[in-house]
Amino acid sequence: MNALFAPFTPDASGGPLAGVVVRPGVADDLPAIADLAAQRECGDLADRLAVHGRRFADERQRLFVAEHDDAIVGYAWASWLTPVADGGRRAPDGWYLSGIVLAPALRRRGIGRRLTEARVAWVLGHDDHIYYVVSASNGPSRTLHAELGFREISTDFVVPGVVFTNADGILCQLDKRPDADVIDLARRR
Ligand SMILES: CC(C)(COP(=O)(O)OP(=O)(O)OC[C@H]1O[C@@H](n2cnc3c(N)ncnc32)[C@H](O)[C@@H]1OP(=O)(O)O)[C@@H](O)C(=O)NCCC(=O)NCCS
Repeated sequence: MNALFAPFTPDASGGPLAGVVVRPGVADDLPAIADLAAQRECGDLADRLAVHGRRFADERQRLFVAEHDDAIVGYAWASWLTPVADGGRRAPDGWYLSGIVLAPALRRRGIGRRLTEARVAWVLGHDDHIYYVVSASNGPSRTLHAELGFREISTDFVVPGVVFTNADGILCQLDKRPDADVIDLARRR
């Protein structure tokens, strides 16, 4: 099993967990998210703290966190990327979902979905499209994003800084619904 990804278990839902708050991240959250990242990647805590601290200071990156019982139990980033200008290939400029990690003990309680819904809502409040890239072998992530409406649009692309060990990356896209405002306006007439 790949420890970076959760095992694919379609029938193992734990149901929603009460008392979870999803909110934009603040600087005080960084040690907790570095800890989650270091555990997932078996990496160095100080190194993870430096990486996430740099991201937090960058206005093209947005952090969201999930809090439960006064502890940060998950985090997720959205990032403005310019893949082709940065040396990549066949991937559009735009906002990308760029890293979500849930504490293993609290997975499958609907928190990843809420963190993703929060990022999608934020991005589609600023742009018409949102993207993400995923390894074909990451069934849990593909299922979660497909449920939220992401379409898998290409396997022939390069986003600099994202390496797929099995060369099995998939580029996915979700569009703002073109009819959303029209329906609201029509109802007001
Ligand atoms: C992927 C990840 C963020 C999902 O977070 P989560 O909080 O467990 O997900 P949710 O409970 O919100 O799941 C929402 C839906 O996604 C799908 N899903 C999530 N985990 C799944 C799994 N292990 N197997 C199958 N489907 C899964 C299900 O359809 C689920 O709905 P359901 O529980 O009602 O059946 C989490 O497994 C994780 O942190 N994985 C390691 C890091 C990672 O892979 N990040 C993504 C890289 S692109």
